[in-house]
Amino acid sequence: MALPAALILLSLPCSSFGLAAQRRRAVRRRASPTVAPEPSEAESRFGRQSYWDGVYADEAAFSWYCGWADVEPLWLELVPDRAARVLVPGVGNDDAAVGLVDAGFTSVAASDYAPEGVARARARLGDERADRVDLRVADARSLPYGDDAFDAVFEKGTLDAVFLSGGRDKALAYDQLRLCAAELARTVRRGGVVLSLSAPATEPIDRAFRECRSDGGGRCWKQLIDGDSFVTDDGFASINVDATILAWERL
Ligand SMILES: C[S@@+](CC[C@H](N)C(=O)[O-])C[C@H]1O[C@@H](n2cnc3c(N)ncnc32)[C@H](O)[C@@H]1O
Repeated sequence: MALPAALILLSLPCSSFGLAAQRRRAVRRRASPTVAPEPSEAESRFGRQSYWDGVYADEAAFSWYCGWADVEPLWLELVPDRAARVLVPGVGNDDAAVGLVDAGFTSVAASDYAPEGVARARARLGDERADRVDLRVADARSLPYGDDAFDAVFEKGTLDAVFLSGGRDKALAYDQLRLCAAELARTVRRGGVVLSLSAPATEPIDRAFRECRSDGGGRCWKQLIDGDSFVTDDGFASINVDATILAWERL
């Protein structure tokens, strides 16, 4: 015998109503981001791996926005423990990894998605330091490190370049930053920190960290430095750096 419609409704488990709401929420939530194909040269120069390989084939050393010495006092305030496990993604031919080793950091990993950038980083380090650094070709959107592998991350200009790899499609570009914020949330332990120096993509970088959510739905990151200028205890002024400084702690 067929049940009347009202009885069918009453006999449905409560969770059915919850499921409908969940489905509506899932529709509102953004789809999972994926790694974008390389943009054309006309769309984005700095967003292409081949561009960076070409730069590093020709150029032995260059530091975007500032040298390591300019940012070291701030870094040491954020990460005083020389035993901290540090990652420098997108190291290129900058001397951040050299500076970290010379400052006494004993566990340094540095990577770049451009193989020529890793070769330059190795040359900047020299044999003796390079033996003590985990140097790899790696894409910041899909890192080859384990969960909670790092206590601290120093990135300078890498997230800017990642944003530019989305080309003219700003939603796709933002998705590339979402991938990075999620990968850093996976590989940085709770209480660990990320220091970021950026210029063209500061706003979307800031948003990607603000909007990053862990599986349970909680925020991944608490902002420690929001781009305002400041002076550290030992007199370092952020106005010496030609970029905006952001920092977060992993929640
Ligand atoms: C503006 S340069 C900054 C280089 C260096 N960090 C500095 O401070 O001078 C951007 C760097 O990010 C690297 N890069 C861009 N997209 C990347 C990605 N998805 N994964 C890893 N490295 C990336 C580039 O190869 C390049 O070395």
